[in-house]
Amino acid sequence: FPADKIRNFCIIAHIDHGKSTLADRLLEMTGAIAKTEKNKQVLDKLQVERERGITVKAQTASLFYSHQGEQYLLNLIDTPGHVDFSYEVSRSISACQGVLLIVDANQGIQAQTVANFYLAFEAQLTIIPILNKIDLKNADPKRVESQIEKVFDIPRDDCIRISAKHGTNVEMVLQAVVNRIPPPAVSSDDPFRALVFDSNFDHYRGVVANIAVFGGRVRKGDKIVSAHLGKTYEVNEIGLLRPDEHPTQRLYAGQVGYIIAGMKDVKEAQIGDTLYLQEQPVKALPGFKPAKAMVFAGMYPMDQSEYPGLRSAIERLTLNDSSVTVQKDSSLALGAGWRLGFLGLLHMEVFNQRLEQEYNASVIVTAPTVPYKAVLSSAKLIKEHGSEEITIVNPAQFPDRSVVSEYLEPMVLGTILAPDAYTGKIMALCSNRRAIQKNMVYIDDQRVMMKYLFPLNEIVVDFYDLLKSLSSGYASFDYENAGYQAADLIKMDILLNGRSVEELITIVHRDRAYNTGKAMLQLMENYGGDITRKMKLLKRQAEGKKKMRRIGNVEVPKDAFINVLKRK
Ligand code: GTP
Repeated sequence: FPADKIRNFCIIAHIDHGKSTLADRLLEMTGAIAKTEKNKQVLDKLQVERERGITVKAQTASLFYSHQGEQYLLNLIDTPGHVDFSYEVSRSISACQGVLLIVDANQGIQAQTVANFYLAFEAQLTIIPILNKIDLKNADPKRVESQIEKVFDIPRDDCIRISAKHGTNVEMVLQAVVNRIPPPAVSSDDPFRALVFDSNFDHYRGVVANIAVFGGRVRKGDKIVSAHLGKTYEVNEIGLLRPDEHPTQRLYAGQVGYIIAGMKDVKEAQIGDTLYLQEQPVKALPGFKPAKAMVFAGMYPMDQSEYPGLRSAIERLTLNDSSVTVQKDSSLALGAGWRLGFLGLLHMEVFNQRLEQEYNASVIVTAPTVPYKAVLSSAKLIKEHGSEEITIVNPAQFPDRSVVSEYLEPMVLGTILAPDAYTGKIMALCSNRRAIQKNMVYIDDQRVMMKYLFPLNEIVVDFYDLLKSLSSGYASFDYENAGYQAADLIKMDILLNGRSVEELITIVHRDRAYNTGKAMLQLMENYGGDITRKMKLLKRQAEGKKKMRRIGNVEVPKDAFINVLKRK
């Protein structure tokens, strides 16, 4: 395929607006898959994705399409819709020249539509706006087209109205991909250069890296180097994804495909890395900002005898997800375990669910915390840590005020879209969470877009659920990182029978300490009644003792303890 007959694009949208459904239609219409019910959402491969109906890992497919007597190779890169995975979206975007921006013709623009639009806009990609679900009775494409014109400054005439479900006008989408998106500006005569935009680990074959070829060509048997580690590998297999792997002899500039080259670990095929031929070294491509863990939690086996099994499950799962950070940790009550870092709360939940489903592991997860920073004032500590500023991901290790000149907390810029009837309630919720309003605009006569600067720890646990329930499900929310800000943080101890319990230590803003502490104690108290009842029950059971945890000088049923840790 000459580069001018290639189009690389991805589909971006708010959750549930129909990305996967449109992808299925495009695959069917280009003959990549057969038209059967079974093929619903072929690109969503993980079990959690099928269950939750969300896309977690980006998937890729090459489609062959003929238009006006010409053959085209269309590379579709599927992307996840949820905020925790916007990192996956930005790396998919970097392999593309254009995007299909899908908006539900009934719901209109939502928070992730806005976030995804800016990712594509900043990368200077061609944006094709698509109104989906026009078959719905309540669809109002006219209103949504004017939202698109107002918020994104895209002429309403550029919009394509479709029903992905019924296939209406999907052919127009394929034509727009060919006519509006420019081909990649690359040449097969240049030295080989490819961007790794995704990688997976396969037990039998090692790392399977997804690459976009930005120049030259690569063959089976070639010796290639990964720019990041400078290691050399031999290409064992290359091919196209349609969406299953189709081995080919060569990959050329402009193509998107996979490569297997004896890499043992996803860390060897770092996302954003550049591959080149050993005999033709080139400058590395710009790459990506590394994904930053923003939510940390302790993970422990239900029983210490399950430690080795859980360890290998975590190891295997992180082989496939390099955005999870893992550190050993231990707790008096829970024994040996780990402290894991995730991109967000959904990322953490999905990881847990995969541990349970794919590895049959059962785990205790403690309450999530965000990465705080402290600027040290004690010369001794600065020397010990090798720097003035330290990051704290475990509340028990929060340094005392006396050795610190300033505490810092991570901030995020949040976007909320909602019908204006809920504005008052939403503003009250945000101000209760120490948020500062940055902006507020009407996107049409009934819907408002608000921007707030939030401390991350205020939205990590229950903010989204509250927002959804106070707006009867109509508000949507997305956020991006916004650096660190000084904050009056304190370490809150909870005493059980006069003794502080390490596992219950929490970092809170001074203003919120009283309410947070009270809520936690109420949780313990609720279990209090339970405790005495349970104890009587347990006395009658021989293995009763095993179910209790000694914490300080109090015995607490394991369930109660775990639920307080989880703040449930
Ligand atoms: P994520 O991958 O989770 O972000 O979702 P998605 O954007 O891929 O949405 P998906 O394709 O899973 O569609 C969400 C829901 O909308 C499904 O129940 C689809 O059947 C439905 N849907 C998609 N397209 C249409 C359409 O054109 N009309 C109607 N009526 N429903 C549609």
